[in-house]
Amino acid sequence: MQAELKLPQDYADKVQHPALKKWVADMAAIAKPDQVYWCNGSQEEYQLMCERLVAAGTFIRLNAEKRPNSFACFSDPSDVARVEDKTFICSRRKEDAGPTNNWMDPSEMKKTLTPLLDGCMKGRTMFVIPFCMGPLGSDISQIGIEITDSEYVVTNMRIMTRMGWPVMEQLGKDGAFVKAFHTVGAPLQPGQADAKWPCNPTVKYIVHYPEERSIVSYGSGYGGNALLGKKCFALRIASVMAREEGWLAEHMLILGAKSPQGEKTYIAAAFPSACGKTNFAMLIPPKEMKGWEITTVGDDIAWIKPGKDGKLYAINPEAGYFGVAPGTNDNTNPNAMASITANTIFTNVGITPDGDVWWEGMSKQAPAGVINWKGQVHDPNSGQPVAHPNARFTAPANQCPSLDDRWEDPAGVPISAFMFGGRRSSTVPLVYQSANWNFGVYAASTIGSEMTAAAFGELGKVRRDPFAMLPFCGYHMADYFNHWLQFGRALPNPPRIFVVNWFRKDAEGNFQWPGFGDNARVLEWVIGRVQGRTGAVESPIGWMPRYEDMNWEGINFSKEDFEAIMHVDREIWKQEVLSHDELFGRMYDKLPKEFFFMRELLLSSLWRSPEKWGMAPERI
Ligand code: OXD
Ligand code: MN
Repeated sequence: MQAELKLPQDYADKVQHPALKKWVADMAAIAKPDQVYWCNGSQEEYQLMCERLVAAGTFIRLNAEKRPNSFACFSDPSDVARVEDKTFICSRRKEDAGPTNNWMDPSEMKKTLTPLLDGCMKGRTMFVIPFCMGPLGSDISQIGIEITDSEYVVTNMRIMTRMGWPVMEQLGKDGAFVKAFHTVGAPLQPGQADAKWPCNPTVKYIVHYPEERSIVSYGSGYGGNALLGKKCFALRIASVMAREEGWLAEHMLILGAKSPQGEKTYIAAAFPSACGKTNFAMLIPPKEMKGWEITTVGDDIAWIKPGKDGKLYAINPEAGYFGVAPGTNDNTNPNAMASITANTIFTNVGITPDGDVWWEGMSKQAPAGVINWKGQVHDPNSGQPVAHPNARFTAPANQCPSLDDRWEDPAGVPISAFMFGGRRSSTVPLVYQSANWNFGVYAASTIGSEMTAAAFGELGKVRRDPFAMLPFCGYHMADYFNHWLQFGRALPNPPRIFVVNWFRKDAEGNFQWPGFGDNARVLEWVIGRVQGRTGAVESPIGWMPRYEDMNWEGINFSKEDFEAIMHVDREIWKQEVLSHDELFGRMYDKLPKEFFFMRELLLSSLWRSPEKWGMAPERI
């Protein structure tokens, strides 16, 4: 079968870049693939890769009428998510990786990987993928080369990045690039049949060498472990580059908000994984918020640089969405649903008997006869989900109806505010504005989510995820805090910083806020603050809207409801501030000295009598 799907002649002999050619040759000598193929990024090549995956049984072609040019696949059950415990930052000095990253000495790590990489691509093709993170030609963009033995990775990288020959041309003879080597870690003996989802079920390593600007990923074919442009490059390696060069590489969505008056404000927002970033990036305001329009620049990562005018400019380095499927539907995210109607790869979702996809939350009931992510007919009495909770869609950004018209602007879009949020059932109010940049950095350093599954630790306990970057910062987290403080100091008029919490619950355990489209009401207040036209009152933790400062058109949300979701309980907040030490205590040696003062100021604010604050006593 595969013989009919032979790869075309590639352009290896046209490559002008000696250092790149040498690296590829060196890696081929180690990995010992059957052949090396340089990807050109064309549509024909993409189709061919998909056909090869269909022939191998990895891809299942979906119903061409329902999901044109789309495919579904099931991963190995051992390979369903990022593997944080197997993710390493191998800086030369341990203190540069910091206490929240796994670290190994680079030479030790290389000793560990050498026997694994020796012959790791036997029986397979080695693909060379030139890719650009960000619009080709933008000053903010960066080039990488991923070597992989996975066609699944090639197809996903084609959607998620700008990939192929134009990148190679841009690289020229001596352009800089990040080296990203990936193998599924499953060499084939002659005649050995391949698995549908090749991976190494027991050995996985996701390794970053920040000083060398290189990545080695072994054993997994899934998501952030294998699509190395995303978390490995655009966050872990790029965060190191950004610190050295004076910019920011952040785990943030970017959205544009157009007011009824026609003014456009761009906002970057960070939320820990699984807090609905894609939904927020694509939100549709309630129809009663007439004239408001939200547009999407990116849903996961932002690279941000100061411009000559002192403003911050951001690009989305990605070209697609690798979104979590379960829970996505026409109510929670109609724009995402529209983005995945064609040309999409689905991983670990259910497949319906008529060749479409299904996942929990798409509709009330699973369709009869749906095949679950393990490839079996779903038994509704089994208690097992149809889709894996981390099932994904990979869809091109340009299919998103809310795509911002400047999403590929090489200059980036000007950022006026940062928003930070976590999943907190109590304590943190719906929204507040930090008193200034430094307090905002402090607040962002302390965001966190309550554990929702016992597997991640004690249920309900807050897992701090500073800036939503804990798994993605390529260096010491306290150095990262210092970088943010320093970065703000250099800006004449830094963006305002806000904290939000969509997930607060009442005593009965019901969510107090409808979320989704109604989050636009919070955005309207945030934008009003940025533009200097909306009111607020000072509270012990920052500036907060009064009931009358927000738009309640078309929602039944009373003043009492509002007071309840905005309530800042002083006793609970004292505990909250003291509990920040659990994270900070791990990095005292490098913690910014400003943090100690801010903590004291927060505590003393919380001790002051309510009358001192210009807000309704019932809210304090
Ligand atoms: C993601 C994540 O996949 O943050 O974007 O885990
Ligand atoms: Mn993410």
